[in-house]
Amino acid sequence: MGVELQKQNIVLILIDTLILKKIVKKRERGIVLPYPIFRGNIYAMPNDRLLSTYDRQTVILSNEAVAEAHYLLRCECAEIAQHAHPGQFVHVMISQDTGMLLRRPFTIYTVEGREITMLYQIIGEGTKRLSEMPKDAPLHVLGPLGNTFDFTVKPEPAILVGGGAGIASLMLLAVALRENDIQTLGLVGAQRCARLLSVKDLESIDIEVHIATDDGSIGHHGYVTDILADLLENTAWQRPTVYACGPHGMLSAVAKITADFEVPTQIAMENRMGCAMGVCLGCVCPVRIDTNTIEYQRVCTEGPVFNASDIAWDV
Ligand SMILES: Cc1cc2nc3c(=O)[nH]c(=O)nc-3n(C[C@H](O)[C@H](O)[C@H](O)COP(=O)(O)OP(=O)(O)OC[C@H]3O[C@@H](n4cnc5c(N)ncnc54)[C@H](O)[C@@H]3O)c2cc1C
Ligand code: FES
Repeated sequence: MGVELQKQNIVLILIDTLILKKIVKKRERGIVLPYPIFRGNIYAMPNDRLLSTYDRQTVILSNEAVAEAHYLLRCECAEIAQHAHPGQFVHVMISQDTGMLLRRPFTIYTVEGREITMLYQIIGEGTKRLSEMPKDAPLHVLGPLGNTFDFTVKPEPAILVGGGAGIASLMLLAVALRENDIQTLGLVGAQRCARLLSVKDLESIDIEVHIATDDGSIGHHGYVTDILADLLENTAWQRPTVYACGPHGMLSAVAKITADFEVPTQIAMENRMGCAMGVCLGCVCPVRIDTNTIEYQRVCTEGPVFNASDIAWDV
């Protein structure tokens, strides 16, 4: 019986591998899947998304400090730039030679022609090493990955709430909102003035920016969520919509505030990731389907953008 099942599995793996090879060959786009293919894996990511996902070897064009412990990296990835949408991310291979096998996920910060940028914070070994990589160093970039922010119901206004490097996930959205003439406010939080990010980039596209720092070195002394609560309390807006990214605690505070004011809210989650292609289930987060049911969904595939009211924050 065991042998029989094993045989069936091997056949299924072969069939899946053949189907995948066919898709890749048909599209002739040079998609390289970086992970082993097991039964079912090709269905892990929706096919339309898989077909506009690219694994590219490129080189760093620039990689410069923009604030304390934060860097902006620029590289050329024409196909990724062409298909990127607000909220989507890339999975970056930093260095394989020293046992750093897992890629690291970073949101696409900006797109300009054939180039993309990533704005990242030094957190651990991977991002430290990335920050030390010079111009012309090789880089493997897989993307664009994940779902996107939605503004088909026109926000009046859109309120972006970014905590620390979380603001990086909101910049492509900010650009898209302004291109669609949507009034947009940016609430930017940081530990201190030296770590403040993106203020000039937001102001350069006519976004009104409000700043909060934990130590009060610039802007409001306190959390960025204090500003959000204050604005929602004291401003009569038509149809405000909140878009947020940042540490988990900040996101859960945003979700609570906007639930109290009944303001629709989309958040980008930044869970730890393994494959980023819907296979390993390392990135799941609890989503409430109804009052009695919680389902674990993959941040890399069903997300990273979720409705804040769908997340089971207490689990
Ligand atoms: C969809 C998505 C988009 C992201 N976008 C950005 C961005 O634009 N800018 C930015 O500064 N950071 C971003 N992050 C967080 C970033 O991926 C981590 O800070 C980074 O992976 C840390 O790697 P490390 O090797 O320095 O840290 P280590 O702690 O040494 O990493 C060990 C492992 O944990 C994972 N990990 C650690 N911290 C995080 C975290 N906070 N979130 C997710 N995985 C983590 C790493 O991927 C790695 O697998 C994003 C995360 C996700 C999931
Ligand atoms: S990171 Fe592997 S399933 Fe999401």
